[in-house]
Amino acid sequence: MHVFIADGPSEVASFVAQIIGKTIFDKTLAVLCLPTGSTPIPTYKELVRMHKEEKLSFANVVTFNLDEYIGLDKDHKESYNYFMNHHLYQHVDAKPENVHIPDGTLPNDKYEEYCSNYEKQIVEAGGLQIALVGIGRTGHIGFNEPGSTDKDRMRVVHLHDVTIKDAAGSFGGFEGVPKTAVTMGLGTVLDAKHIILIATGKNKAEIVKKFLEDEEARKSPTDCPAVYLHEHEHVTVFLDKDAASLL
Ligand code: GLP
Repeated sequence: MHVFIADGPSEVASFVAQIIGKTIFDKTLAVLCLPTGSTPIPTYKELVRMHKEEKLSFANVVTFNLDEYIGLDKDHKESYNYFMNHHLYQHVDAKPENVHIPDGTLPNDKYEEYCSNYEKQIVEAGGLQIALVGIGRTGHIGFNEPGSTDKDRMRVVHLHDVTIKDAAGSFGGFEGVPKTAVTMGLGTVLDAKHIILIATGKNKAEIVKKFLEDEEARKSPTDCPAVYLHEHEHVTVFLDKDAASLL
């Protein structure tokens, strides 16, 4: 695992966008896993700039998003479908058939089939070349909350109270936040050839320390699922100074 500490979020974004941009330039088909949250926004901004100013085309890019809240329509302002269109897809030339964002609107009994089909589509696309992920304050990747393991595949999950509290501001309070979500499993993420984890800001400093340096957490990774990334041979972590401040 390689850890890079940048000055701030925009430097993190430019490193990550360079890596993604290079993969897109080099490959006939680039297969990416993409996250949501405030952390990747500057990276998406940089990719959009590269598309507009440096002719970075998304025509041969296949993307699979990590997760989505259950119960939000795709055009709901807090849905991850809306987020991805707003921050990335409406600004670039990605082909709609190559863009996969989990559907949070299905009836419960449809998810088992839906999730295995989503996983099948990743395999059929040739597997994830890069999985870009953030980290939640519970140590979650996507919505793989404590209790998750490296064997988990895509599925419906319950959100941790800390995660719900962190999202409460955007939903008018705790009660308004969806309590379940559909997420790629850690097993799915760990199948990617290269995993890039990004974390910025002081509020991530504690969980970043736990993820990178806590020996106890290493003994019990299910309590802080990001720790499972230590099993993977090609992980790059980009932090800004604030997120790295307790290391
Ligand atoms: C949500 C997403 C995660 C993301 C996390 C952190 O829980 N499901 O994929 O990593 O938020 O978000 P932020 O970048 O806003 O701190």
